[in-house]
Amino acid sequence: MSFMQIKNLKVHYPIRGGFFNSIIDYVYAVDGISMEFEKGKAYGLVGESGCGKSTTGMAIIGLEKITSGSIMYEGEDVTNQRRKRNSSFNREIQMIFQDAHSSLNPRKRVEHLLAEPIRNFLRVSPKEEQKKISELLEIVGMPEDAKLKYPHEFSGGQKQRLGIARALATNPKLIIADEPVSALDLSVQAQVLNFMKDIQSEFGLSYLFISHDLGVVKHMCDHISIMYKGRFVETGTKEDIFTNPHHIYTKRLLSAIPNVSPKGREKRKRERIIVEKNYQTELKNYFDHNHRVLDLAPLSETHFVAIANGVSMRGNNS
Ligand SMILES: Nc1ncnc2c1ncn2[C@@H]1O[C@H](COP(=O)(O)OP(=O)(O)OP(=O)(O)O)[C@@H](O)[C@H]1O
Ligand SMILES: [Mg+2]
Repeated sequence: MSFMQIKNLKVHYPIRGGFFNSIIDYVYAVDGISMEFEKGKAYGLVGESGCGKSTTGMAIIGLEKITSGSIMYEGEDVTNQRRKRNSSFNREIQMIFQDAHSSLNPRKRVEHLLAEPIRNFLRVSPKEEQKKISELLEIVGMPEDAKLKYPHEFSGGQKQRLGIARALATNPKLIIADEPVSALDLSVQAQVLNFMKDIQSEFGLSYLFISHDLGVVKHMCDHISIMYKGRFVETGTKEDIFTNPHHIYTKRLLSAIPNVSPKGREKRKRERIIVEKNYQTELKNYFDHNHRVLDLAPLSETHFVAIANGVSMRGNNS
């Protein structure tokens, strides 16, 4: 049973211009997406830069105004609500922001940065608060003396860990992680990802993992949605997406994953040429005349693809 359902979510930004600075058009940043979240599962949101991933995360958490659609949390409608500071939704849904560096206030010591969410949401004594801060630092593998330091005194990976510690401070159910490792070196990326996986099972957390990197999402997620221009082109389990991709855009993304072995590289290159050719010739089956992604249609209980009627019957390699 899912604890949160998002239905037909849209976030449109007005574009102003002209003499009266009136609205002349809209950016359809998120344009009708639906998702459900179950306890302990990791969901991936993948797509190229500007497709609407961060906007989706911000809208869910309440930092962007939702144009239409609904978010139900534990049976309660939380769409665009002016939520109370200590409401369970605010406490239980946390976000790790795309830019760890600027999301940590540079003028505050770590102690203070971690105390903030604890004070906002949990009623604890000063002594318990100190204990909780020490626990959080231990969970993210940072030494006790980190408490007295400022964000600039840490490396990128350490800052990301502090962002995770802050998100964990309120015992959340769901963490929305927006490109949590994309600014990090590959070796540190693996470290942070594995760490996030460990705490997921330890705390029964759910993740919405936002990334432009399919490799990262494959490593982390049970369920994946592929986003293009504010809409989902395909959603399914990890197996659905990686072993049985249907949408031409998904295939294009998959064929762009680098292959390390020289033999694999050649094969991937040949595949890429075929995928690219199909992409151009089959566009009309996957997009409407405004190049808008079609509505999703089911291929199986778990696998959905935005495809014109009848095309899905032709199978994967059509
Ligand atoms: N405040 C805003 N006003 C107007 N347009 C915006 C605003 N914020 C985002 N956009 C536009 O909405 C679209 C989606 O932006 P978003 O930041 O969600 O993309 P993204 O998928 O997170 O990209 P990236 O991978 O680069 O982080 C983009 O075209 C962006 O220019
Ligand atoms: Mg983003």
